[in-house]
Amino acid sequence: MTPRQVVLDGRRLVVCVGSGGVGKTTSAASMGLWAAMQGKKVLVLTIDPARRLANSLGLTEFGNDERRIDLSDVDVVDGGQLWAMMLDTQTTFNELIVQMAPNQETAQRILDNPIYQTMSDTFAGSQEYMAAEKLHDVVSTGRYDLVVLDTPPVKNALDFFEAPGRLSRFFDRQVISWFLNPPKRTGLLGSLKQGTSTVIWKMLGYVFGHDFLEDLSDFLLLFQDMYEGFRERHQMVLKLFRSQECSFVTVCAPTEPSVEVAGFFSKELSQRSYSRGGTVVNQVHLCGDVVLDPQVLLGEQAKELSQDLQDWTAASLVARLGAAHRRLRALAAGERLLIQKVQSFSSGFLLEIPRLEGEVNDLKGLARIASILFDDASVSTDS
Ligand SMILES: Nc1ncnc2c1ncn2[C@@H]1O[C@H](COP(=O)(O)OP(=O)(O)OP(=O)(O)O)[C@@H](O)[C@H]1O
Ligand SMILES: [Mg+2]
Repeated sequence: MTPRQVVLDGRRLVVCVGSGGVGKTTSAASMGLWAAMQGKKVLVLTIDPARRLANSLGLTEFGNDERRIDLSDVDVVDGGQLWAMMLDTQTTFNELIVQMAPNQETAQRILDNPIYQTMSDTFAGSQEYMAAEKLHDVVSTGRYDLVVLDTPPVKNALDFFEAPGRLSRFFDRQVISWFLNPPKRTGLLGSLKQGTSTVIWKMLGYVFGHDFLEDLSDFLLLFQDMYEGFRERHQMVLKLFRSQECSFVTVCAPTEPSVEVAGFFSKELSQRSYSRGGTVVNQVHLCGDVVLDPQVLLGEQAKELSQDLQDWTAASLVARLGAAHRRLRALAAGERLLIQKVQSFSSGFLLEIPRLEGEVNDLKGLARIASILFDDASVSTDS
């Protein structure tokens, strides 16, 4: 499989995963840009992009509105559009409640409930959960030919895959019914259970206060009708991840920890039967095979140019250049070994992107990365 196939052959969703700081946002934005240049209507759903990249894309503030990116500086096939959205997790959660509540009044009561406010802080802080939720909306509306999801840096790499089910597990029907329907008085066992739950209620009331318990019951009561809805959404997100319309691209840097996380993702993806589009090894130090001797190449010139400086200035500069060159060669050799390791576990395409001069923080830089990604010079690791 090539990156072109991943992005163009009927996929509606590409998900970039990988450890922190390796270039997930950069890769997601580059893939989105390239697909738009080919005439697709694309949304890049991003979370906390580097500030300068956000600015140069015109994403100056967080918000759940989709913004069209000005592509007048690049060549775009007719109909191509690039949209970007920077996920605001709290707004996503509130919107979700409004969408799923049976009526406006219930939604407002939930939003005003202190338990919801505390809980939503925790869940809204969970960007991976909200990303999966938002994804469900933007993909199912069919407004875009392609959605590219840039995932947040996950502390525990599994978080992202487990995220969609978290809320429905939290509202497990059994837990809710324990709070809402204390066991009936049926025989000794029933009264024992009732006794137990009464004691626990009293204890909870003592520890948290009765207002808290009232808020909690109220909250769970309001939520009980929405449980099914959350469960269905969870199933739909999982189905989408498993479908042929979705492809996962793992991004890593040629460093040991990042390659380890990429290996972990690779295993998880295949165990879950998610489609593995390929792997991008980003920020590779490219260094040709030629061994350069700065003394031979620059020694004479340096001496001439430094005639009015101290004797040792040119010599030490040339020596430092030599040391930097040797270090770069050693680093590149180490990276080659790590890339071989990536090759051993990845599936689909395997692409290297060199570490570019400076940062990649505008459309030009993204277009440059895109041209490397899509020039079809990738190694396929498909067996
Ligand atoms: N090939 C590259 N050459 C040079 N700089 C790069 C390259 N790829 C990414 N960068 C720079 O590295 C930084 C991190 O990239 P990016 O924000 O895409 O990573 P990320 O994986 O999304 O990070 P996070 O996990 O924090 O979200 C950015 O400043 C970006 O401009
Ligand atoms: Mg990022």
